Amino acid sequence: MSQYPAFSLDLFRLDGQVAVVTGSGSGLGNVFARALGTAGATVVSADIDLAAAEKTAEEIRATGGTATSITVDVSDPDSVETMSATTLKEHGRLDILVNNAGIASPADRIHDMLLEDWDRVNAVNTRGVFLCTKVVLPQMMVQKKGSIINISSVAGLGGVSNDLSAVAANYSASKGAVATFTKQVAVEYGKEGIRCNAIAPGWHLGTQLGREALPLSEADIAAMVGKLHELTPLNRTGNPEELAGLLVYLASDAASFMTGQVIAHDGGWTSW
Ligand SMILES: NC(=O)c1ccc[n+]([C@@H]2O[C@H](COP(=O)([O-])OP(=O)(O)OC[C@H]3O[C@@H](n4cnc5c(N)ncnc54)[C@H](O)[C@@H]3O)[C@@H](O)[C@H]2O)c1
Repeated sequence: MSQYPAFSLDLFRLDGQVAVVTGSGSGLGNVFARALGTAGATVVSADIDLAAAEKTAEEIRATGGTATSITVDVSDPDSVETMSATTLKEHGRLDILVNNAGIASPADRIHDMLLEDWDRVNAVNTRGVFLCTKVVLPQMMVQKKGSIINISSVAGLGGVSNDLSAVAANYSASKGAVATFTKQVAVEYGKEGIRCNAIAPGWHLGTQLGREALPLSEADIAAMVGKLHELTPLNRTGNPEELAGLLVYLASDAASFMTGQVIAHDGGWTSW
């Protein structure tokens, strides 16, 4: 007889679990936070923009879920420590971490790239993922269970043209580091019941990431979107909501034997 429970959709439920989502104030982070709330988790919505974090928490509460908000700068160790300590004080446990906060920069080629742009992107995208992971691991080790989900990118799996939105070497290198860090956490902490996986999204438009970093005319955007469709087997870009199922799966006991994986969610982009 297997010790593992027979399959049931209940395995996807997250009732009684506490989930921290960084960068939850907009874009994919908002989708992830709401999805975890829908699956029953108590959500800590954490963003450098407190008003945006609270708006996401309010959306979760408005649909019958449980959520609080907190301001965090994931690149700042003290701020990250406060996020974790406040979560434990208010909710008593910490089961799920979604390292979603991330930024891009102008899509300069490497020989033109400013050192400060390299450092600024890596401070959030790699240092931030390290700091947030480091701070939750001790509690997950006490609980002998935890699920960490890092948000990498298809840009972290291979080279991508600078023509396509805000993809530059600082961004792709940071997302590659996130993919490898994911595997390192999985290997180091598997014996302690902690799983760590990454999602590598392709383009999920409807978010601000590309446009803020690289202001484009409407004609440029139309040309870029056309090129993205051409390069994607499913011939379209993703909708952020389409990522919700994968995120909840990785967070839940339905994925109890999944760790160290970097899963592209990209309409087939990486399958050519
Ligand atoms: N949208 C996509 O198509 C796409 C594709 C691949 C990967 N990603 C990754 O997904 C994640 C979310 O992207 P998005 O498109 O939703 O971006 P977004 O810009 O819409 O949201 C990012 C959020 O992170 C917050 N943030 C920024 N710096 C922070 C910091 N230092 N501390 C805490 N919060 C901070 C912002 O306030 C914002 O709410 C990023 O890691 C991004 O690299 C996105």
